[in-house]
Amino acid sequence: MNKEAIKTRVFEALDQNRNYDSDYILGIPGSYLDTEQFHRDADFLENAPFLSTFINNPNHIGCHTLTEDKGEDLFRGTQQMEIELIRLCAEEIMHAEEKTIDGYVAPGGTEANIQALWIYRNYYKKQFRAKNHEIGVVFSTDSHYSFYKGANLLSIQAIPVPVNEETRAIEIPTLEQQLHDANIQGVKYFIVIANMSTTMFGSVDDVDALTSVFKRNNYPYKVHADGAFGGFIYPFTNPDNALDFRNPEITSITLDAHKMLMAPYGTGMFLIRKGWMHHAATNEAQYVQGLDYTLCGSRNGAQAVSIWMILQIHGPKGWAKKIDGLMKETDKLCSELDLLAIPYFRNPHLNIITLKAGYFPESISDKYRLVSDNYEGKAKWWKIVVMPHTKGKVIESFIADLKTNALKP
Ligand SMILES: Cc1ncc(COP(=O)(O)O)c(C=O)c1O
Repeated sequence: MNKEAIKTRVFEALDQNRNYDSDYILGIPGSYLDTEQFHRDADFLENAPFLSTFINNPNHIGCHTLTEDKGEDLFRGTQQMEIELIRLCAEEIMHAEEKTIDGYVAPGGTEANIQALWIYRNYYKKQFRAKNHEIGVVFSTDSHYSFYKGANLLSIQAIPVPVNEETRAIEIPTLEQQLHDANIQGVKYFIVIANMSTTMFGSVDDVDALTSVFKRNNYPYKVHADGAFGGFIYPFTNPDNALDFRNPEITSITLDAHKMLMAPYGTGMFLIRKGWMHHAATNEAQYVQGLDYTLCGSRNGAQAVSIWMILQIHGPKGWAKKIDGLMKETDKLCSELDLLAIPYFRNPHLNIITLKAGYFPESISDKYRLVSDNYEGKAKWWKIVVMPHTKGKVIESFIADLKTNALKP
């Protein structure tokens, strides 16, 4: 869509919302943004659909793909845009069948991951009368720390599984042994995390290898894919993505538009097959029309609108082209590292390169703000994420510095 069409669509949605200043709204503990600080009548707002939505402050509490016209009725216009957004991501990017996915825009990847754990924990409790300590979350040690956080909050067992130092793949015999040990200690039900790019390495888990262990041992399991980093990259670079909804093993997916998609913070996304969201229903949320099914409760609808706008302006081909440009830049940097004989890990479908420490001085890591795998001790790895702002000059300068300062470990 062009900018004009996007603007028209967003303003139409705002018109369909009820408005705090033009409608009689007496019972809601919310309003438009403070008028001393935020100018509702600034001329530029006519051409600023995102800021206008932000200032109008529509509350998207709840899960609109699930409740549709039974949800909160004040902000149906922008909530409809969120429904379209979830369908777009689920069906066009993650290849789900039409209208088979529920979801919502979460504050970030952390919440979306914890939402998944919450749903599966409640499912096991309800369906199998499982106790919290009988439920385990299995994830590679390269996974995001939100899984430790979620396991802690939900009082379920975190089962981190080591990865091979070079390939970053989960060691299957070790996984099998850990599951066996956990099982002896009473863990009977499993939530399996498959990374669609880890934070530090850009590694992608082999979901078939993981699930085969659970099948072989007859352990009940559900799989959640964490695409917080890779969800807007990997599906565009690998048409055979085994972690999308074409794979019946995948029940839910986390995305994060405030990473690669360059949306404002507060734009995580949670996607799950229909029939699962009710496991997170809070029946006591009786004052919310359509109940609440999310961890966060109230949230500003402008976040959903921002993601929708970004995806519409690029379109599928435009976005694929942008990602392709980043991949070429990442390939170029890898070729230079090869020439300098600096070892690194890189998944060819992602724009993360993780360099082995010891081959260049730490002053270079500081200068370019590379990210260490260990800020408390000695770094073993340094990470580079090739992003639109690093293309060209920054990478060229980094390579030039490496050439003059490379160390022989
Ligand atoms: C793979 C992965 N999952 C989850 C998260 C958490 O996302 P957020 O910081 O948006 O909560 C991150 C953040 O870096 C991540 O890289």
